[in-house]
Amino acid sequence: MTAAAPLRPSVHITHHGVASDGKEVRLFTITNGRGHVVSLSEYGAAVVDLCVADRNQIVGDVSLGYDSLHGFLGKGNPYFGAIVGRVGNRIAKGRFSIEGREYVLACNNGVNHLHGGVKGFDKQVWSGTADGAQTVSFSLFSRDGDEGYPGNLQATVTYHWSDTDELRIDYVATTDKATPVNLTNHAYFNLSGMPGTSILGHIIQIHAERYVPVSETLIPTGELAPVEGTPMDLRQPTRVGDNLAAVGGDPVGFDHTFVISGSNGQLRLAAEVREPGSGRRMRVLTTEPGVQFYTGNFLDGSQRGKGGAAYGQHSGFCLETQHYPDSPNQPTFPSVILKPGQTYRTTTVYAFDAI
Ligand code: GLA
Repeated sequence: MTAAAPLRPSVHITHHGVASDGKEVRLFTITNGRGHVVSLSEYGAAVVDLCVADRNQIVGDVSLGYDSLHGFLGKGNPYFGAIVGRVGNRIAKGRFSIEGREYVLACNNGVNHLHGGVKGFDKQVWSGTADGAQTVSFSLFSRDGDEGYPGNLQATVTYHWSDTDELRIDYVATTDKATPVNLTNHAYFNLSGMPGTSILGHIIQIHAERYVPVSETLIPTGELAPVEGTPMDLRQPTRVGDNLAAVGGDPVGFDHTFVISGSNGQLRLAAEVREPGSGRRMRVLTTEPGVQFYTGNFLDGSQRGKGGAAYGQHSGFCLETQHYPDSPNQPTFPSVILKPGQTYRTTTVYAFDAI
């Protein structure tokens, strides 16, 4: 058998649909030199499709989402593929202070603020541009007071889809007033490539000696606790389903931030996941100090996704690289405050192969 000739990488721009405010939304489809496709929407700067080969060279889509923009716009969309911000994850009671001034945000998750609020960055139409054949950048201007946050924020998220099936995401932001910023991507993965099936058979390894214990409403206690001797110990490859009952929670499953070992702002390996059936593997590298491992606990089958699949509980997992939850209220956590004159810069890579 001769190896397939490399293809010429390209970006194709098509119409994804129209957002509820009447704005046109475009879809950018990057095809890499292996012919593997990633498509990205201006709505939420979201990953819509992510197609990679299994160990037999069968290509499958490993991301959860919808066949059309309509699904992404729907009320129950649990942030599929989207960029979340201005602050991803929770802020206790939607309140924080900077330089003695208190700011009040919407509480859209029980008593807490989650993922940037009622109309977070995941529900905004970003402005996309193709930068060459394998790179797409999305920009968003978030005005002073947006969802209660201070300062005009200019954010840019750049996706690069390499010929070696690495999706690199570079986040950049600047502000004209001190504000918290914690951007991440909320893609849900199922490496089997079969939408709607369970991820409990996936094998996960997270390079973390410590995790962030949380209260009942998922707000950190302030402690960074050792994983040793707890079901959070994923330092060795572990079948996701094996630890679920011990992790507990209501609904049951992982929804925790892990403190990535050796965190020093450099790009380093945070986690790896393997799906034994297909052999597909995903490795996550990041400059961020933490990663939220979420096992789709709130999925309940009500969302009809790609190909009409019902996304039931634990049919996808997320590895959201980020600073720790509620950082604006936790003095011992690394700061998420961006000041005028500074540039927010983080990088995360999702690297795929099959073994
Ligand atoms: C995050 C949270 C979860 C859940 C999902 C969205 O990962 O940590 O608790 O809210 O987003 O459903």
